[in-house]
Amino acid sequence: MVKLAHISDPHLTLPKATLAQLLGKRILGFQSWHLNRKNIHDPAILAELVADLQSQRPDHIAVTGDLTNIALPSEFAAAGKWLEKLGQPDQVAVIPGNHDAYVKLPWDIGPGTWQKNMQGEYAVSDTELDNGFPYVRLRKSVALIALSSAVPSMWFAAGGRVGKGQLENLKLLLPRLRQQGFFRTVIVHHPPLPGQAQWRKALWNAAELRDILVEEGAELVLHGHNHRHMHEELKTSHGTAQVFGVPSASARRTKHKPAAAWNLYDVRREDGAWRCDVQVRGLDTDTQQFSELRHFAVKFD
Ligand SMILES: [Fe+2]
Repeated sequence: MVKLAHISDPHLTLPKATLAQLLGKRILGFQSWHLNRKNIHDPAILAELVADLQSQRPDHIAVTGDLTNIALPSEFAAAGKWLEKLGQPDQVAVIPGNHDAYVKLPWDIGPGTWQKNMQGEYAVSDTELDNGFPYVRLRKSVALIALSSAVPSMWFAAGGRVGKGQLENLKLLLPRLRQQGFFRTVIVHHPPLPGQAQWRKALWNAAELRDILVEEGAELVLHGHNHRHMHEELKTSHGTAQVFGVPSASARRTKHKPAAAWNLYDVRREDGAWRCDVQVRGLDTDTQQFSELRHFAVKFD
């Protein structure tokens, strides 16, 4: 049995910024943080979520992006420290989100700060990798295939794109890992299916990603970005792919979005088929404690 935890969009607090750093698109995000978002994303809630997650002793943790707000080098460094506390780097897999690519930044002072959390041990094809993506982590029977959809985009846009090279690699990896008997879990920041987000915030090449998933199959696809509980079933040529999104890991409940939550997937092989129990754990706004919100089994045939 493998216990896989999924959290997303922690949006750690915004450190101080200089005026020079705020020139350009960052000024928008800076303003939005101070006017609105800082009242939603609460470090105390995030700390409670992490304590709840660690109490369940997962084998592996997937963090599906948006650790920062406006992609300041100081935010990447602070997020790196937070990741160290979350678990060992080989136990915590990270991908960037659109906020982590808010502006174009040299990789090593941007998401590259989390390099230890963004590498696998599985040799992918020799097609060119996209800043090391996709990377693959093998954890017992689970293969985690990590994609990056984080690309700098125009003002007021929050969409993403999985690069062509990544998609080519994914197309090779999925059948190979299936033949090797792995439970294939794809992680990507943006919701992976067309229509799951409005255009301004969407994965702009979701149809291409969906087509590969349909053709080659995957068992689980985990994403963040919408700050909501999401669950879709995608019929593929090799069974059903279960597609899950989770709310922001640090959020207070608002009129439109749920409070912080995370998912725990219990994956096992039984009678020649994959089984997975999903436990949705979230902040109960009455007791201000994390507890189980829902528990159900999903199928892959
Ligand atoms: Fe996002």
